Amino acid sequence: MWYIVLVAAVVSVAKAQVFGALGCPTVKPQASFDLQKYLGDWYEIYKFKANFENGQKCAHANYLLKDDGHIRVNNSGKTADGKMVQALGDLYMPDSTKPSSLKVKFASAAPYGNYVVIDTDYTNYTLIYSCTSILGISHFEFAWILGRQRTMDQALVDRLFAELKSYNVNVGHFMKEDQTGC
Ligand SMILES: *[C@@H]1O[C@H](CO)[C@@H](O)[C@H](O)[C@H]1NC(C)=O
Ligand SMILES: *[C@@H]1O[C@H](CO)[C@@H](O)[C@H](O)[C@H]1NC(C)=O
Repeated sequence: MWYIVLVAAVVSVAKAQVFGALGCPTVKPQASFDLQKYLGDWYEIYKFKANFENGQKCAHANYLLKDDGHIRVNNSGKTADGKMVQALGDLYMPDSTKPSSLKVKFASAAPYGNYVVIDTDYTNYTLIYSCTSILGISHFEFAWILGRQRTMDQALVDRLFAELKSYNVNVGHFMKEDQTGC
């Protein structure tokens, strides 16, 4: 019975997310991480395809420190018919000895997902990777490149693509976010 439930769960995420064979690739989180410097506004420059954001443009995130030390994430974007939509989430650092390995969730009933900061300079860009292994035989993954502005130098984009690729992540899944006419 649990097997049927698992297969159903896997099939439903498979339709929404990028799927890969085997377990998660081993990526190297950034060695140090300063949550304070990470707060504020970020614009989505590239992302792996994700159903929950489909059809939106101008994706923007605001990270705000809460009293409990967690971060309130406000993801917003514009739908095809120009409507502003938002999703509020919770981001936190479960283990201070692994400061760049964060956890995030958007629905109160949903489990926390991985949010690994692979590389950020806080003032221009952040490269985020999220992977969930399914019994080590399969995995689903997301990646995002966010910037402090709606545009990013191509040289920087190329460097971040190369960095993720060095961990055997297929950067062919990246899609450019439309940040025009916002
Ligand atoms: C989330 O961000 C959007 C866009 O900036 C803003 O319109 C909305 O008021 C924000 N929501 C909250 C709860 O702050
Ligand atoms: C990052 O931002 C700083 C300050 O905003 C700027 O001086 C620098 O040139 C930027 N670096 C890159 C690689 O974009």
